[in-house]
Amino acid sequence: MNNLSQFIKGLPKAELHLHIEGSLEPTLMFQLAERNRIKLPFKDIESVKEAYNFNNLQEFLNIYYQSANVLRTEEDFRDLARDYFYRASRDNVIHSEIFFDPQTHTDRGIPFDVVMRGLLAGIAEAESQLGMTVQLIMCFLRHLDEESAFTTLRMAEPWLDKITAVGLDSSEVGHPPSKFKHVFATARQKGLKLVAHAGEEGPPSYIDEAIDVLKVDRLDHGNRIVEDPLLVTRMARSGMTFTLCPLSNQKLQVVKDLKKHPLPYMLKHGLRVTINSDDPAYFGGYVNDNYQVLAENCALDANDFALIARNSFLGSFLSDETVTHYIEVLDKYTASFEARA
Ligand code: ADE
Ligand code: ZN
Repeated sequence: MNNLSQFIKGLPKAELHLHIEGSLEPTLMFQLAERNRIKLPFKDIESVKEAYNFNNLQEFLNIYYQSANVLRTEEDFRDLARDYFYRASRDNVIHSEIFFDPQTHTDRGIPFDVVMRGLLAGIAEAESQLGMTVQLIMCFLRHLDEESAFTTLRMAEPWLDKITAVGLDSSEVGHPPSKFKHVFATARQKGLKLVAHAGEEGPPSYIDEAIDVLKVDRLDHGNRIVEDPLLVTRMARSGMTFTLCPLSNQKLQVVKDLKKHPLPYMLKHGLRVTINSDDPAYFGGYVNDNYQVLAENCALDANDFALIARNSFLGSFLSDETVTHYIEVLDKYTASFEARA
């Protein structure tokens, strides 16, 4: 392993864009299918992996929603979350803000409370056993209507002290952020932070809408911002955080060649970019793999990756005190790494 790979591996970091349902590894999928007596459309793990070849976001989402069908009980959601936290912790993720998609589960009859109790059990273990801090972001599925998002927000009412933010995910093109204007305004009134996927496959105007109509606090993906230099300047001046996901972009053919990934351009133009894994069980890698592919394909050095890790804490929804503490941890790490080199 070269020096930069070692540096990345040990770098303390936060993950800000991770769909917990997208961390369902084929091994756990088979275990849960057996536990819940569900017949899978795959004969073995090899054939699952073969099916993970996607031409676009929708092809991935079709398989992702189908696979979520094995998640039935509180224990299933706990095991899903636990598996992710152990893997993330091995990558030196010390803080994680995870998405979950309640409608994927409530629409097939799984009670909202089952999902919440299971995830919270996994989070409690991550906090006590791994020393991680964790926050929950509840996403609305944008291919469904705004009324369904409102129903979900009402279901979440008893749990709002455990939920930090709401988000917007699923099929982007044809479902602009403005479709969810009212539910996002209501969520903000309830004290929730706001994020949204925008400009992953959709045009830069969707990023505009997420900022100006939804009034998001952070933007997920946003890679297509490079098509609008004026918006780049505006976002650089505002300090908006972008959660980029290189392996996801490659797997979903959003970015054809990682050597041309937009992250270096965005970083150079003053945007607060972060690196994340999105749906690691489907896209071939956890957060360190995502840092690593950019190290291999782009002209980024240790200072750049340290800045990206710093951005991950600055762009989090943690308190100023905790962010200050994490940045001190990061600075200590970079100083000791330099001293050893
Ligand atoms: N749901 C899970 N992963 C997603 C992605 N990359 N984009 C939109 N919705 C998602
Ligand atoms: Zn995502």
